[in-house]
Amino acid sequence: MRPAGTLLRSSPWLRLVTTFATTIIIATGAHAQDDVQEIDSVSGLIIDDAKRWQVVRVHCTACHSAKLITQIGLDRSAWEETVRWMQEEQGLWLLGKDEPKILDYLSEHYGAQRGTRLKRKNLD
Ligand code: HEC
Repeated sequence: MRPAGTLLRSSPWLRLVTTFATTIIIATGAHAQDDVQEIDSVSGLIIDDAKRWQVVRVHCTACHSAKLITQIGLDRSAWEETVRWMQEEQGLWLLGKDEPKILDYLSEHYGAQRGTRLKRKNLD
C-alpha cells in the first residue's frame, strides 16, 4: 500500500482538477483585463459608455486641468458642494440639465470609495 500522500500527488484526477482551477484563474484574470477603464489621453478622464465624460470635459476643463478631478474621490453630495463652491467663488456657470449627468459621472468614476479628500476645508 502506498501512503495517501503519494497517491494524491500522483493522481491524474488531482492534476486535472489543478489544471482546471488554473484555467479558471487565468480566464478570470483575462476577464478583469477587459474591465480596465479607457482613459481619454488628452484630459485624463475615464471614458464611460454613456459619453458623459465629454460633457464633463466641456464644462470642467475650461479653467483648470482635469487632474483636479481625477486625483480625488468624493460622494455625490460632496461633488455637488464643490460645483456650488466654484459657482459662487470661481465664476463657474450654471450647468442646467448637464448638472445631473456631471454629478452622476463624477460620483460613479471619482467616488468616495477612492478614499481621497478635498484639499480645502468643507464649507460651513
Ligand atoms: C470658471 C472656471 C472653472 C470651471 C469652469 C470649473 N472650475 Fe473647478 N476650480 C476653479 C478654480 C479657480 C479652482 C481652484 C483652483 C486651485 O485651487 O488652484 C477650482 C478647483 C476645483 C477642484 C479642486 C477643489 C479643491 O478644493 O481641491 C475641483 C475638484 C474642481 N475644481 C472640479 C471642477 C469640476 C467638476 C468642474 C465642472 C463641473 C469644474 N471644476 C469647472 C474654477 C473652475
